[in-house]
Amino acid sequence: MVSVRKLIAGNWKMNGLSNQIVEAVTVAEDLARNPPKVRVAICPPTILVHRIAERLARTIVEVGAQDLHGEAAGAFTGDTSGEMLHDAGARVVIIGHSERRSLHYEDDAVVSGKVNAALRAGLEPIICVGERLDHREAGQALEVVSHQLMHSLPMSLDGRAFVVAYEPVWAIGTGLTPTLEEIANMHRAIRDLLVERFSNGAARPILYGGSVKPSNAQDILHTQDVDGALVGGASLLAKDFLPIIRAAE
Ligand code: 13P
Repeated sequence: MVSVRKLIAGNWKMNGLSNQIVEAVTVAEDLARNPPKVRVAICPPTILVHRIAERLARTIVEVGAQDLHGEAAGAFTGDTSGEMLHDAGARVVIIGHSERRSLHYEDDAVVSGKVNAALRAGLEPIICVGERLDHREAGQALEVVSHQLMHSLPMSLDGRAFVVAYEPVWAIGTGLTPTLEEIANMHRAIRDLLVERFSNGAARPILYGGSVKPSNAQDILHTQDVDGALVGGASLLAKDFLPIIRAAE
């Protein structure tokens, strides 16, 4: 069996002003005192990436972004390229989050293009997939997620570092989660697909995301084929995020 290094990533979404930076610093300081076996990343809003990356330099906590534009530079008002994010200190980037897919109409082709842009810029992509509640209720969850994966993951990923995050849309910010069996089944299906397509597919981390909190992290993070978590709300405060990181070990 290939062992996969776990990753706990925090997605702050559009939350946090300057006074939020201390939460990231607190996480890094705590982990420095007792280094975890898992990788840890924090993905703040774009505007805070540079400042947090400077504060977390020489710590084990990696800094990431939540989205990027597909081009390196050009006339794209309001957008940020992977090259800019890398220059600001980001090393990972979330791509294809369900909030981007639904609120910004990003389809699998857009996601795939952004994955290529991330690789070009030297960023490790965290590619998100997940079914809606109507898909799950209709028994189509596996089919929908497989289709998303097939079309969101370009073959250029072969041999490269990348992460897949399974985030059922209906579990995000709702307090609801799939059963551990449902999570295990989905992660197994994702693993099979990665192994089939990519020479390094067996070693790529598959994260679970959607209402992960200190109280359920232990169970979820020790479910078969779960190699970490993508955490939203519970990553905003060090007091919530740290126990999730510790639960992964
Ligand atoms: P919550 O942990 O707040 O449910 O958000 C999950 C998520 O969307 C992380 O990307």
